[in-house]
Amino acid sequence: MAENREVRLDNKSVIERKGENCHTVFGKNVRLINARIVMAQDSELIVGDNVILRGYIAISSGCKIIIGDRTKCNYPVHIVVSEKTTLHIGCDCLFSDMSLYTSDTHSIFCRKTGAKINVASNIFIGDRVWLGRKTWVMKGSHIESDVVVAAGAMVTGYISSNTICAGVPARVIKQDILWCDERVDTLPERMESQLL
Ligand SMILES: CC(C)(COP(=O)(O)OP(=O)(O)OC[C@H]1O[C@@H](n2cnc3c(N)ncnc32)[C@H](O)[C@@H]1OP(=O)(O)O)[C@@H](O)C(=O)NCCC(=O)NCCS
Repeated sequence: MAENREVRLDNKSVIERKGENCHTVFGKNVRLINARIVMAQDSELIVGDNVILRGYIAISSGCKIIIGDRTKCNYPVHIVVSEKTTLHIGCDCLFSDMSLYTSDTHSIFCRKTGAKINVASNIFIGDRVWLGRKTWVMKGSHIESDVVVAAGAMVTGYISSNTICAGVPARVIKQDILWCDERVDTLPERMESQLL
């Protein structure tokens, strides 16, 4: 992937580089629509081909975001990656107006030991993950591929592949599912190979 190839920013989008060594790599035909990306010193953003980003994305110092090909935001997202964490997002994901935090951005300690309770942690999102409206993905979450996260759900941990998860905290409510972007009544032919 060549660096910063063909990224198209509309007139409301901006990438703010707040320090030295903000590293960006954009694939082919990446679109930023009403997007504000704020990068601190020594942060990294690697975006695949044909990705569409909308909303607010903050990457703190020492943090990294990787986004796979064809992932798109249909609504503005709110993504905060801080405290030296990494967010990995796979290919062909579909995001509604979700919020994602690898850190709580404030600190909580055990009153008895003084130890920090809410430790920041990486987030992993596999391929073909659909995050429905008003979803939350919290620090340490790991969502495998081919998952639908129901509207209003809050993911806080591990979600296995080919499932629908829902609720707060999110729990699997359906297994062995496949989903596609199109509004259709029959499984698209291209997906038949994925049937069990
Ligand atoms: C998760 C979803 C896909 C489930 O659709 P479905 O497979 O047709 O499931 P059903 O409507 O049969 O619901 C199954 C069960 O899950 C519950 N459920 C459905 N959506 C839920 C949600 N968002 N949160 C919590 N529970 C939910 C239903 O009440 C039902 O419970 P029951 O079995 O106790 O009666 C759908 O409800 C949803 O949330 N879609 C997201 C839509 C969206 O955000 N679109 C944005 C466009 S990018």
